[in-house]
Amino acid sequence: MEDLSGRKPRGLFANKFGVIAATAGSAVGLGNIWRFPYIAGENGGGAFLLVYLFFIVAIGIPAMLSEFTIGRAAHKNAVGSFKALSPRSKWFLVGMLGVVCAFMIDAFYSVVAGWTLEYLLKALTNQFCGKNYEEIQYLFSGFQQSAWRPILWTLVFVLLSGLIVMSGVEKGIEKYNKILMPLLLLILVILGIRAVTLPGASMGLEFLFYPDFSKITGSSVLIALGQAFFSLSIGMGALITYGSYVRKKDNLGSSVVTVALSDTLIAILSGVAIFPAVFSFGISPDSGPDLVYQTLPNVFAQMKGGYIFAVMFFALLFFAAITSTISILEVVVAYLSEEKNISRRKATALASGGIAILGCLCSLSLNAFPQLSINGKDLFSVLEYLSSNVMLPLGGLFIVIYVAWFFGKERLYKELSSDGRYKVRYYKFFLFLVRYIVPVAIGFVFLNGVGLFSI
Ligand code: TRP
Repeated sequence: MEDLSGRKPRGLFANKFGVIAATAGSAVGLGNIWRFPYIAGENGGGAFLLVYLFFIVAIGIPAMLSEFTIGRAAHKNAVGSFKALSPRSKWFLVGMLGVVCAFMIDAFYSVVAGWTLEYLLKALTNQFCGKNYEEIQYLFSGFQQSAWRPILWTLVFVLLSGLIVMSGVEKGIEKYNKILMPLLLLILVILGIRAVTLPGASMGLEFLFYPDFSKITGSSVLIALGQAFFSLSIGMGALITYGSYVRKKDNLGSSVVTVALSDTLIAILSGVAIFPAVFSFGISPDSGPDLVYQTLPNVFAQMKGGYIFAVMFFALLFFAAITSTISILEVVVAYLSEEKNISRRKATALASGGIAILGCLCSLSLNAFPQLSINGKDLFSVLEYLSSNVMLPLGGLFIVIYVAWFFGKERLYKELSSDGRYKVRYYKFFLFLVRYIVPVAIGFVFLNGVGLFSI
């Protein structure tokens, strides 16, 4: 096994499709299906899309490639990679930051992901059809007010992701991503076709694509950059960990570009599947985070064939969420099993147990126990804010600086070219981006996230 230490055998993705399916599975998540469409709609539609695309290419792809490079060079977890590449330095702390961040993200992400299971069940048992607006609102608020149901689904979700991760890199992570990601794309294309063929669909497409440059402000530019980061799973070592399972002969650059473009395409496609339908039924598109759980069920309630489209949509949301969650959990599991020398089973049980407890507390903080708060903000929002706005950009910043200035130019070229197997025509450009452009851009997002800077 290609392991620096040559000791413990590690998992590897079997082929390039496995790498792409798993990494795209990590990237495509709740961030694409519900967050991207509504923030694009709110921030200038087509104009926002252009800014977002620019950030994906100029900032996101170089940052992803940096993480992949570290992981593949060391063939180790997020902490172990830094220890192996820069022994006797403090760089491993960047990996630690990532592991802690992964633990926090997994906890609150599993709460919202759990809701997809409740809604999948509601869709399967035909609970939307024939209901009016108030009744559908009540479905959501009723669910939220029952303390135990959201908790139950959070636990089920944590258990499912734990079972997949426990089965290993090839037999768990890679296998499920190879099945679920193509299925996800298929469902999304069917939903998109259904949506654009509804009467009045063009208004929805206009909402999403019409480039309203007057809506592009400093803050929407930063929102675009932050979204690019979260959506590409950058900043906490998820891609270091997945990169460590990539074979030496696979081309890092082309895999990263494929994933980044697929992630963006899927985000746009989900806008295409959602907005034409929302407009077609005369429902307001700007309900923000409630869009998926409150607005869409209204659409399904009125749509011909709504039953089957609702089932497909919530299955899609569940697939997107679980393939992302396993990449987050794997950061913690790979760290525990390799650095603490325990079995994958034990590591998964330990990590999932902790995440389940923190996840339940997050869920309770949203309804039954608002006392679970810090400085007047519920625990759920505190974790979300800290991890997404502070820890991810900070982690991303350190990772990029490490690759640009401390990794070693020769080693970098060797890694990007897979030991000379591929031409790296973009090498100089890449180095320029990671040395100057990317750190400055991430710096802005970070300062904005902690409130020290705003435009
Ligand atoms: N990218 C996922 C989404 O869009 C979320 C996610 C998975 C993530 N792994 C991550 C975000 C690692 C940041 C870091 O929903």
